[in-house]
Amino acid sequence: MNKLLFKDIDEPGLNTIDVYRRRGGYEQLRRALSMPREAVLNELLASGLRGRGGAGFAMGKKISFLPKGALDIYLCCNADESEPGTFKDRELMQKNPHMLIEGIIIAAYAAGANKSFIYIRGEYVLQADILDAAVLEAERAGFLGENILGSDHRLSLVVHRGAGAYICGEETALLDSLEGKRGNPRLKPPFPANQGLYQGPTLINNVETLATVPAIMGMGGDAYAKLGTETSTGTKLVSVSGHVKRPGNYEIELGVSSREIIYGLAGGPPEGRSVKLWFPGGSSSPVLTGDDLDLAYDFDTMAKAGSMLGSGAIIVVDDQTSVVDVAYKTAYFYRHESCGKCTPCREGTNWTVKMLERMKAGEATPMDLDIIASVCDNIIGHCLCVLGDAMAMPVGSMVAKFRDEFEEYIEARRQESYLGTADPEPELALIQGAVA
Ligand SMILES: Cc1cc2nc3c(=O)[nH]c(=O)nc-3n(C[C@H](O)[C@H](O)[C@H](O)COP(=O)(O)O)c2cc1C
Ligand code: SF4
Repeated sequence: MNKLLFKDIDEPGLNTIDVYRRRGGYEQLRRALSMPREAVLNELLASGLRGRGGAGFAMGKKISFLPKGALDIYLCCNADESEPGTFKDRELMQKNPHMLIEGIIIAAYAAGANKSFIYIRGEYVLQADILDAAVLEAERAGFLGENILGSDHRLSLVVHRGAGAYICGEETALLDSLEGKRGNPRLKPPFPANQGLYQGPTLINNVETLATVPAIMGMGGDAYAKLGTETSTGTKLVSVSGHVKRPGNYEIELGVSSREIIYGLAGGPPEGRSVKLWFPGGSSSPVLTGDDLDLAYDFDTMAKAGSMLGSGAIIVVDDQTSVVDVAYKTAYFYRHESCGKCTPCREGTNWTVKMLERMKAGEATPMDLDIIASVCDNIIGHCLCVLGDAMAMPVGSMVAKFRDEFEEYIEARRQESYLGTADPEPELALIQGAVA
């Protein structure tokens, strides 16, 4: 398979500027700066690159929404990477920080931005230290600062560490956090392209999206667009976790079969087990089942199947695991991370957790499944940001697709409760896992 982002990923010392430059690093920046801004933007538009952070919006189009001639345009790289199951940006930043920095400088040039930030989740201490060192190297080499490589392009880059809240990955909460406020999502519109950081026009992109930019400049937007499918161009990093023999990050060409990723690359579930369900795009994506393994892994096929490609985090759950436990752990996480600003999310995530706890305590009836489905329906589309949906979609899909198993579980727990053998407390290990 074609490798662009992971081409040299295991090269010793790749995180240093010398090794990166020996591998052709910063040559695409040199080339980009010799071109007019519009020509660089045209390459990004031609590539069809869609955002790798979750929503899949076309990057070039986002840049073209930025107002022209504004005084200060900002670029923010979203390195919050808090979606459960997602760990691809971590590996990129740790092993190849200069590829990201080069991508940021080129994207900032295309966008007309002079101030840039990498907002990195607080837990990524090692990766933030590596980025700090790499930024210093890039400044000393004249790739950041005034008159970059003799051009009129200037750019500052600051690595900003978050404090460990999932919601700060949502782009407007990220901006508030970066401004020193509590990280709460803002009402949209206005969108960040018009009123973002410090009320100025702002381009926000995920780490992987920006790290792809040098590869696009190297091969040309049209050639990049030939990789993958017509509407999901290029390669994608997928983080595969859960019940597979070889969990890890893999670079795939979009459009390969999901079976090839889960079984071919990640080795499939342990011997004698099969795939019960899988999250195709992080814990916020509606689940698919073992019957969906032959679907092509790309944005549109996942959407047509009722789910989403999201951040590219595939979490595999095998047939030995209770779907109720998976739903509980998912709901628990989102309840914990809700910022509490809007009622459907704040109350709906809490009700869902409480109903699942009723099931575990042997106090639920099958009617509770209808109530959960109704709560989920009332969250989706009714919140300020999509964190509420991020719980409602996967939990709702589990209840819809595995209703029989939920009903059997409810009945079994009720029997145990009647006989006095049910555990009234939710499993501690599950909670600890959800919080970790
Ligand atoms: C609750 C929530 C959490 C998010 N977390 C992240 C994250 O950790 N990293 C990320 O890149 N995007 C995250 N996003 C998506 C961002 O809001 C935004 O769409 C993305 O950074 C845009 O970059 P892209 O176009 O390159 O994907 C999150 C969205 C929501 C609603
Ligand atoms: S949906 Fe949830 S996390 Fe998002 S703004 Fe509303 S309460 Fe906060």
